[in-house]
Amino acid sequence: MSNIEALKSEIVETVKAANDIDTLEEVRVSALGKKGKVTGLMQTLGTLSPEQRREMGQALNRLKDEITAEIEARAGTLRSAALNARLEKEKVDVTLSSRPQGRGTIHPISQTIEEMITIFADMGFAVAEGPEIEDDFHNFTALNFPPEHPARQMHDTFYFPDAPAKEGDAAKRLLRTHTSTVQVHTMQSQKPPIRVIIPGRTFRSDYDMTHTPMFHQMEGLLIDKTTHMGHLKGCLIEFCKRFFEVDELPTRFRPSFFPFTEPSAEMDIGCSRAGGELKIGAGKDWLEILGCGMVHPNVLKNCGIDPDEYQGFAFGMGIERVAMLKYGIPDLRTFFESDLRWLKHYGFGPMEQPNAALS
Ligand code: PHE
Repeated sequence: MSNIEALKSEIVETVKAANDIDTLEEVRVSALGKKGKVTGLMQTLGTLSPEQRREMGQALNRLKDEITAEIEARAGTLRSAALNARLEKEKVDVTLSSRPQGRGTIHPISQTIEEMITIFADMGFAVAEGPEIEDDFHNFTALNFPPEHPARQMHDTFYFPDAPAKEGDAAKRLLRTHTSTVQVHTMQSQKPPIRVIIPGRTFRSDYDMTHTPMFHQMEGLLIDKTTHMGHLKGCLIEFCKRFFEVDELPTRFRPSFFPFTEPSAEMDIGCSRAGGELKIGAGKDWLEILGCGMVHPNVLKNCGIDPDEYQGFAFGMGIERVAMLKYGIPDLRTFFESDLRWLKHYGFGPMEQPNAALS
């Protein structure tokens, strides 16, 4: 028994002497690990008589509990010491007045959203918003995605675990995969004529150079009695010229598919990659920039608007994508890393007017 006491004080001493979490872990392994001292003693229990075994077994279990408690207490102390040291080191004095060299910047996403709103506002569009947590009805069904339609899978949707199990249940909750959900909310709550743009966060389970699980889209929706594809083209061509600040901007519309528009198109703008440098404007290459089309009659019907009377167009584009193209930002992921050096480099001063050069 006195052996155990001696072992205990020896181990407790090393626990107390451990000055960081790694050393403490080594102490734990050397006492309680597979090849530890206490574990070693436990393994000798089999050689003892039943009485001795009971007595020794209890003593060893107690020892193990005591050592575990000592280690936990020490770990707590070490952790709070480490935290305090870090807090001390990373201290920021929020009462300091702002100085020019320490001034914050406007994030390129915020700046880009402001720029886009400025241009569309000039064309008579108002800003609309909607929830980021959505249901299957607003994200898919109302937008004419039939249940089981492969386009649902293409969206890499984040579903809520508490939702009813079946895909296509109207109430099934999810993070919206596109801002087109707000087309539905807007048409349900407003009477035509409707002319809105919808900036907002969207979510898809994807991550690489050009995809992040959260990104932003700018949606546009126009509903009235006479607007046709020609208006859609004119509106988007005008937008791109102003946004990219290029007067001679070649554009083209390629046929595409979205369940909620018919006909559907993707819009490309001209660019050149001569000398490895991407330049928006006249050149040999094309860059895809957005999806668009005439709002599908089924969508109008689903939102309580008579498709025999009303028609219109919709479009949607990735805000990071156009910001990357306009400002030459190569990696999408850097937008959300909050790296101060990046923010300083790509950020905007608070006094910089969106599109000042254009107005
Ligand atoms: N919602 C589509 C997407 O996320 C874009 C789009 C919006 C296409 C509106 C057509 C009309 O890919």
